[in-house]
Amino acid sequence: MTASEYKRQIDAALEEYFRAEDFPFRGLAEAMRYSLLAGGKRIRPMLVLEFCRVSGGDPEAAMPVACAVEMLHTYSLIHDDLPCMDNDDLRRGRPTNHKVYGECTATLAGDCLQAEAFGAILRSGLPAGRRAKCAEILADAAGLDGICGGQYLDMIGEGKELSHEELNEINNRKTGALLIAACRMGVAAAGGSEAMLEAAGLYAAAVGAAFQIRDDMLDVLATEAELGKPIGSDEKEKKNTFMALYGEEKCRAMIERLTKAAKDALSGAFADTRFLCELADSLAERKN
Ligand code: IPE
Ligand code: IPE
Ligand code: MG
Ligand code: MG
Ligand code: MG
Repeated sequence: MTASEYKRQIDAALEEYFRAEDFPFRGLAEAMRYSLLAGGKRIRPMLVLEFCRVSGGDPEAAMPVACAVEMLHTYSLIHDDLPCMDNDDLRRGRPTNHKVYGECTATLAGDCLQAEAFGAILRSGLPAGRRAKCAEILADAAGLDGICGGQYLDMIGEGKELSHEELNEINNRKTGALLIAACRMGVAAAGGSEAMLEAAGLYAAAVGAAFQIRDDMLDVLATEAELGKPIGSDEKEKKNTFMALYGEEKCRAMIERLTKAAKDALSGAFADTRFLCELADSLAERKN
């Protein structure tokens, strides 16, 4: 499977959720679909499906888990853009959710996508033990020690001088945690071994660290048209980033080192690592 084939399948599966005509009150479902179907890169669901495959499972059976991680990610983006957070007007090439539906509906659309993510996992056809494991992994990534904790630290760190370690702590939670969860959920959906879960987590931790550094570089170096979201958002909000701390060249070197570490983490645990290695390489160079 290529990345674009995975993306096509994921987009088609997501299309089936929250069809507005199925609900008595359409507005909320419409707001959820507006952001969910706006065309992200679908990196996280792709990781679920590929880790399921390399762990000996059936990626088709893991599709609800893949959709769940994209729902949770989309919720985090809707809330990240709110005026009380990063206050951004553009996301995935469209006006942000609150610009179209208002802050109240955008907040609820995010809340609802988070709840529905767990519903999608728990209603999937996977064996009960695997469903429970996936839901637990996702809960850990979303909560206090995951996205919410990371976003809180990101916010209270605005305008302050943070150390390398403190910045890593933020990035590992706000971005790394969900990527780690995606990879581990793929293994869990396949009923993979502890060694596979561990290797998947190590790969994702390195990919995740590189991913946020690249995101911060693009906020400075890319154009709004390329990114589909505003540039200069981090400076505007006085964010701590590795780009601000070290500049472009050091960031490139850090990404290169992390990408190699990610690929190294896979060998031994999985037989067929070609897709995952190529994905890590392409994310290191990504333009959006
Ligand atoms: C953006 O994530 C938010 C971060 C965690 C840096 P992506 O770059 O994966 O955004 P989409 O899903 O492609 O829109
Ligand atoms: C993303 O960090 C963290 C999330 C959990 C959404 P950013 O605030 O840098 O993400 P973008 O650049 O707005 O996508
Ligand atoms: Mg943010
Ligand atoms: Mg943001
Ligand atoms: Mg950013």
